[in-house]
Order: sequence, then structure tokens, then C-alpha cells
Amino acid sequence: MLLDREDERILAGEQGETRQKMLELLVALGKVFGAERLVAIKSAQVSGASYKTIGEYGLQWLASLDAKTVVPAVLNPIGMPRGRWEEMGIGPGFAAKQNAVIAAYERLGIALECTCTPYYLRQTSFSDHLAWSESSAVSYANSVIGARTNREGGPAALAAALIGKTPCYGLHLPENRTPAVVIDLPTPSRKMGIAEYGALGYHAGKLAGNRIPYFRGIRPDRDQLKALGAAMAATGAVALYHVEGVTPDAVATPFPVTGLETISVEPAEFERLFDDIPVDAVAVGCPHCSPEELGQISRLLAGRHVKIPFYVFASQGVIDANPRPVEAIERSGARVYADTCMVVSPAMEQYKAIMVNSGKALAYVPDMCGAVARIGTIENCVDVATSGL
Ligand code: F3S
Repeated sequence: MLLDREDERILAGEQGETRQKMLELLVALGKVFGAERLVAIKSAQVSGASYKTIGEYGLQWLASLDAKTVVPAVLNPIGMPRGRWEEMGIGPGFAAKQNAVIAAYERLGIALECTCTPYYLRQTSFSDHLAWSESSAVSYANSVIGARTNREGGPAALAAALIGKTPCYGLHLPENRTPAVVIDLPTPSRKMGIAEYGALGYHAGKLAGNRIPYFRGIRPDRDQLKALGAAMAATGAVALYHVEGVTPDAVATPFPVTGLETISVEPAEFERLFDDIPVDAVAVGCPHCSPEELGQISRLLAGRHVKIPFYVFASQGVIDANPRPVEAIERSGARVYADTCMVVSPAMEQYKAIMVNSGKALAYVPDMCGAVARIGTIENCVDVATSGL
């Protein structure tokens, strides 16, 4: 692999053992995937932040590192809202361990924004190279923004944050960003909102597997694209998709798709995911809510009070920038939490059945929380939370 003189000095250990080991990791990764060089990145998003997922071994490894990030870097959601963990039912033992994980990342220079939606906090642009970890963030960066990132494991994203580069292979290369399967929606569905796009993604991820899909027949907005991509990354291994006439790669360079396998999807195939099993909690914000989603939830909750726990998850930056909808949501008894989510927080394990408006949460809640998951529209979620039925 082509390395510059600075890289050689790092590999020789001239900038300390942590930077040496981190670059060794990136070079080894690059060799496995046939990268010819490293590419400079604009930012990193590092997974492996919840103590629930990394445990004691991960914490000890992080605490052993000694270096500083050289590009902006944020964390994936952790297991609790930092300032409100007691209120969410998190025990002091878990909180102490989670705080130790946070402190270890902070010492390395990672910004303590714990979110899967870093694109709401920092400008990320078409053709930027990134090293992001969380699958929905990776999908959004590649597909909706037109940036370039592979789905990095936590250690590889951390290494990239500390070195400022990542191996240039996979989705960093234009030739690997072309579609491999066409998904057609010839029949208009009922009104397609965020939940319907999440359900479509849940279904389409299974159809696409690890191929790059090219959608025809849909016109999603940005929040709907977020829901579609997050779900496809959960039920498939889709880190990039295109929507004809909508997503930036497809608009910038129309792809020749004749000759590709074409799969036709009827609305009934994903609408069947909507059912009405009883639930004992409602959780939305997977991926973390946008300002527009917070506004919509606050309007739906106006003058109403929740009868079962209703969790809304968003990044601290989005919460701070939108105090009025957040206050309105909390006036109803619902809670808006930063830093964490319904999948990575152990607090959600107390529920038997959780209603969500996300195809990704529908896929992950059963295994990660041990609860039955039900998907519904945001209107359904508010109705269920406020009626208790
Ligand atoms: Fe984000 Fe948690 Fe969903 S990390 S995409 S809110 S599972």
C-alpha cells in the first residue's frame, strides 16, 4: 500500500505506540480489502460506545489508548442519557461503567455527541470521505448526502479518527457505488410516511442482501430516506442505495440499469408488517429524530397526556436547537432523551412489547431488548401512547 513519509514515521513508532498500532490496524485492513492507498477523511463516527455492547473488555482496551483525534469525531449512542440516567431507570452500577467508557473516549478527543445522526450536527457534503460506523448513519451519508464511507467497525473508525485517514477501498471508489439490483414499486401505496418507508426498507433489505439497490417508483423526502436506509441496513447489509431522480449519485450520474435483476414490490408485501398487538411502551427516534420529526410529534401530542411510557430519542444538538417542541412533548408526559436509544439502552429491557415507527427498530428490538416489536405510523404511536391501548 502506498504510504507517505508521515505514515512511515507513525509506523516506526515516532508518534507513540497508540498511533503506531492504529495505523497498523488501518494498513492491515487495507491489505485485506486490496486498498492501494489511504484517503484523508473529513470526520469519523465511532460505534462501540454503549457499555451494554462493549462490556469490560472494551472499556479496558479504550482506557489503555493514548492519542488524540485529528479530525472531528463523534460517538454512536450510549446506554443512557448522560444527564438523566436515573430518571430512565438505569442503575448506578451501569451508569458508572458507562461514564468510564465516555471518559475514555473524551480523553482521546472524541466529541461527546452520542448519536447515529451526526449529519444534523456538522456539515457533511457530497463526495466527502468519512469513516463512520453506525449502519444507518453510513447508509444516510452514502445514499442521501453522496459522501463516501464504508461501514467501519468501532476500532477501525477510532483508528481513522486518530490518524485522519482510512483505507481507500469499497464505497470510497466510484466503481463500487453502482447499483446491482432494481427494486420497482409500480403500484402506489397508501400514503407513504416515515413508518411505511421503514417497513419498505425492512422488506427490501431482505431482498437486496448485500447488493446496492436502485429504487424506482418512489419519491421519499430526507426523513423518509433515513428510515428506508436504516431498515435496509438492519435486515440486509445495504450501506448504499439509490433512488431514481432523488438521491445525489443517481441524479449526478444516471446509472444504466438495463440488464440488472429487477424485483417488483407490491405495497401489501410491506404493509402486512403493521399490526395492532398490545404494547406497554412506545419508542420513536430510530434513527435519532430530526428537527422536523420533533415538530411533528409535538403537534400530535398537543393537549394530550401519555398513559404508557413514550420515549423520543434525538441527539443533544438537535434537542438544544429545538427547545419549544421538546418542551411541548415533555408536557404530555413523554420523554425526549439524548445520547441513547431504544436498542442500546438496557432500560428498554423492562418492557414486554414496544411500539416503534422504525423498520430498523422493528428488526432489532426483539433481539436487543427481548421485547416484541410492533410498527405503526407516528400518528398511531401517539394514539397508542395517549390511549394506553
Ligand atoms: Fe440509531 Fe439506535 Fe436506531 S443507534 S439507528 S436509534 S438502533
